[in-house]
Amino acid sequence: MQRRTFLKTLLVSAGALSGLAACADDSTQTTADTGIADGSGDGSGSGSDTTPVPLIVVSAPALFPQSVASGDPRPGSVILWTRLLDGDASSDTALELEVATDADFADIVLLEGSASKQLTALAEHDHCVKVRVTDLSPATSYFYRFSVVRDGERRVSNTGRTRTAPATDADTAVRFAFVSCQDFAGKYYNTYARLNREELDFVVHLGDYIYETTSDPAFQATSPGRSVTFDDREGSILFNAGTESEFGAASSLDNYRQLYRTYRSDADLQQAHERFPFLVIWDDHEFSDDCHGATATYFDGRQDELSVSRRMRANQAWWEYQPVDYEDRPDFAYDSSAAWPDDLRIYRRLRFGRHMELSLTDLRTYRSDHLIAEDAYPGQVLVTADQLAATDVATPDFASPYADIATFAGGRFLPFLQSLAAEGEYPTERVTGLVSIDYLQGRITANAGRVDLPIPPNAAELDGLPVGLAVHHTGKSGLFSQIGSRYLARKAPYLLISDLLFRAAPEAEQALGSAQEQWLVDGLSGSDASWKVWANSFTLQQRVVDVTSFRLPDDFKQKFLLSVEDWDGMPSRRAALVERLADVPNLVAITGDIHAFFAGTLPKADGSAALVEYVGSSLSSGTYKTLLLKTASSDPTLRDAGAAALALLVEELLVSPETKPNPHLALADIDRNGFSIATVSATSFDVDFYAIAERAASARIADAELDAAFEVTRLQTRTGDASVWRDFDGIWKRWNPATFAWEA
Ligand SMILES: [Fe+2]
Repeated sequence: MQRRTFLKTLLVSAGALSGLAACADDSTQTTADTGIADGSGDGSGSGSDTTPVPLIVVSAPALFPQSVASGDPRPGSVILWTRLLDGDASSDTALELEVATDADFADIVLLEGSASKQLTALAEHDHCVKVRVTDLSPATSYFYRFSVVRDGERRVSNTGRTRTAPATDADTAVRFAFVSCQDFAGKYYNTYARLNREELDFVVHLGDYIYETTSDPAFQATSPGRSVTFDDREGSILFNAGTESEFGAASSLDNYRQLYRTYRSDADLQQAHERFPFLVIWDDHEFSDDCHGATATYFDGRQDELSVSRRMRANQAWWEYQPVDYEDRPDFAYDSSAAWPDDLRIYRRLRFGRHMELSLTDLRTYRSDHLIAEDAYPGQVLVTADQLAATDVATPDFASPYADIATFAGGRFLPFLQSLAAEGEYPTERVTGLVSIDYLQGRITANAGRVDLPIPPNAAELDGLPVGLAVHHTGKSGLFSQIGSRYLARKAPYLLISDLLFRAAPEAEQALGSAQEQWLVDGLSGSDASWKVWANSFTLQQRVVDVTSFRLPDDFKQKFLLSVEDWDGMPSRRAALVERLADVPNLVAITGDIHAFFAGTLPKADGSAALVEYVGSSLSSGTYKTLLLKTASSDPTLRDAGAAALALLVEELLVSPETKPNPHLALADIDRNGFSIATVSATSFDVDFYAIAERAASARIADAELDAAFEVTRLQTRTGDASVWRDFDGIWKRWNPATFAWEA
């Protein structure tokens, strides 16, 4: 406590109390040598060598167009952030930081012995300023502001408030929000406006803080006041260039910075940062939709989309704009000459008293490509008969015959398949090796009437062929396609292929990467906090729909994994990780990404629950249901199969009492936006889902109507019981996956 001293000076109180204090007769800037009341906070000014000279305090938010932010609170420290827009873009600019325990800046906190800290806004970092303030008291609210001193005036930013974490041994409940997915294009932040009415210790942002595309018609909205047009158009990736539907994806450093500048121009988002410290991780859109590592996936494998330099520009802008603490390297500054992915490590752990430890993970940097790549050759055999025979797995009924296409039937099918590949602009050299004969026959049928069609294989040619697993068994029938590789994968083949490939090469299927996974397992296993909380950017729980009984083309009468770009795409890695975490009690994952609310559990191999997951919906981005509808109506194959009608039913299908495809899933709400608030105590982990109709996001609704626009669902997990409880009008009921019912 000796290191923490407070100061009450005439200088500051005169300025702050009135906002525009009495005139100063001298513009001399006084900070470091002002009279300091060491430790007492009584403002006596003892020990002063010079007389503080009052500065007129002038509110100057225009100098700080993204306002202020704080982040990564620890018991004794916090990161404070601003961006200064003063003078020309190419020069560095001096500014100051003041911290106080009151909003009037009467009780000033000394920063390295001074009433204010001198800082520099560097042009090379877009004039973003980050400072790590230390020697603070735990569980304490602090107020802070940045300023530039000119002409006898202290021109100040908006005042931010932050709050340090409780001491590690403090028996203190923690209340925080978790949020994700705040698309700006055509959307307004009613969710933040409502969130800002709460009292919270902090906000966890689980990713998609920005979207890298300006107005992708596949999923983004438009409105005149809420759009982005890149200043550096030449530096962006242009789609539909020169047409009315042109849109861009960020690529240059200025593109990414512009997105942060634009998003954080929003008053409701600014206020959230002014009111609460944020703990931020990224998902995909901070770099590129559905990215893995430094690879984008706009073109479904039609071109190589690996771009380490683009990834690093995205990382640099993220580092500049997000108030993140690199505790083990407190002076860390982004170095664009570092070797990716070691340029920036964002996974980290923070402790909040006795009851909560938060592990924040990075699921994008170290993950593998999709198990079935969008450009995987649909006929390619993935598991041979011999490989199947070497396992304890019985040959499944969907396995099919295959042969070496170069020699099968005298090689007469190779030119045919190569010509189809060439027509699809697919590399013909990849039509090689073992190819599924079912796939071949499907191509022959689909191309009936072609003059160059080879004679189909005869019974003798088919006789005795070995049987194995091929790419098209997952539903991926197109040369470049997302069906079966990214969305709507057939459940049984997908899980079996993953399982068998994982047994042969476990390192190939990655979510966290081996170093981070070990860090996560060690941290969760070794923690003595009442609750181990895992901030995880995309959904852990399996989401299957079963449409086997629907009147559909045979190909679509399936159990489908709805999306396999998240943990459902790494089912074997997930299962292995869950087993490693099996003995960690009171483990809760909080998740974003999917633009839907889900609550449920993750089963271990023995069927019992290993952990509970609460998935919060998007703050503003189009909901999961809307995305499914757009996908279903834009893909011709899906459209023809009536997938749009299915998309309307998805929520019912996910929790269907007839088919019970996801018994662990206690709650699914896929067509509303919102945010989530968690309260963590010794005995329970409570989560309130605040849901608002998606259509509300098209305008900023009136403040008077905000409260009524939200519906709250109250959920709870209790110590020692990895299950979900729900409040039904005052009666708490527990979801029982075995009976598929809420039970009192
Ligand atoms: Fe998102």
